[in-house]
Amino acid sequence: MKDELEKVRSAALEKIVRSPDISQLTQVQVEYLGRKGAVTRLLRQMGSLPAEERPVFGKLANELKDEIQKEIDSRRAELEKDEIAQRLTAESVDVTLPGIRPDIGHLHPITLVFEEIRRIFEGLGFQVATGPEVETEYHNFEALNMPRDHPARDMQDTFYINDEVLLRTHTSPVQIRVMLSQRPPVRVIAPGKVFRRDDDVTHSPMFHQVEGLAVDENITLGDLKGVLEAFVHRLYGPQTALRFRPSFFPFTEPSAEVDIRCVICGGGGCRTCSNSGWLEILGSGMVHPKVFEAVGYDPERYTGFAFGVGVDRLAMLKYGIEDIRMLYENDIRFLSQF
Ligand code: PHE
Repeated sequence: MKDELEKVRSAALEKIVRSPDISQLTQVQVEYLGRKGAVTRLLRQMGSLPAEERPVFGKLANELKDEIQKEIDSRRAELEKDEIAQRLTAESVDVTLPGIRPDIGHLHPITLVFEEIRRIFEGLGFQVATGPEVETEYHNFEALNMPRDHPARDMQDTFYINDEVLLRTHTSPVQIRVMLSQRPPVRVIAPGKVFRRDDDVTHSPMFHQVEGLAVDENITLGDLKGVLEAFVHRLYGPQTALRFRPSFFPFTEPSAEVDIRCVICGGGGCRTCSNSGWLEILGSGMVHPKVFEAVGYDPERYTGFAFGVGVDRLAMLKYGIEDIRMLYENDIRFLSQF
């Protein structure tokens, strides 16, 4: 019997040392210490021994059981350590490798120019107002002194939804909405999309304007000139010359279109300014008394100026974009340059 114990012992210890991983080690454990394991079987056979040998054998067998268990535990600890070490090398990350830069979005050039214009006019005490892109013909035309037979209302130029509803052709209807909702003094700008039936290299059926409106007692043409000059000088630099050209709009009197010295050629003449040396950037004028009447302002007491700037043009000049359609194609290669 003692030989038997010794044989089991050396075989078990051998298998334990040779177990290459935890699952095999567990099998060894079952094989020797499990309910049907070799050591367990020996302990059961004890009953067939003479009574005086039983205590001695029992002691030896139990010692063997403890020894095997201890060996298994220490082998398991060893294997676990190996496994962790292996995983650490396999999964290790070289933190000195260069990372992959995540793509981040860019603001659209139109948005950038809108933001710049907003900052400039906020600095001059103006607030931002908005109005709907789908407008009534009353706000877009009638209240702006463009009665039913006015040529600017032509189907050729305007997207009508029905007789009374249309896509606004300019941001000027926001003037009407602002004045209908508040009393003077008024100082607002209104940025937004406008729509006209036009489509070529320099015209898009949807484009952008910023409207400006100031109404108070004693507002003069001098105020208009001063504000627009400050605006242009902040946007394109203090050396940029302005030119006020007499013009006509039904909702302002007098009216002027404003040109700036060509920012591409400096006035010498180029393709962008059609060799004139000047670029038209906005329409403006003193608010027409008829407009004040339409919104219930007293034209004897109040005067005001208004202007409408073409933002797409400004963005094209600022960033040297030659085809207006590039602004709307949403080509990532184009947009990511800003
Ligand atoms: N609404 C005019 C346009 O779109 C511009 C303008 C605005 C002119 C305000 C005068 C005053 O052409």
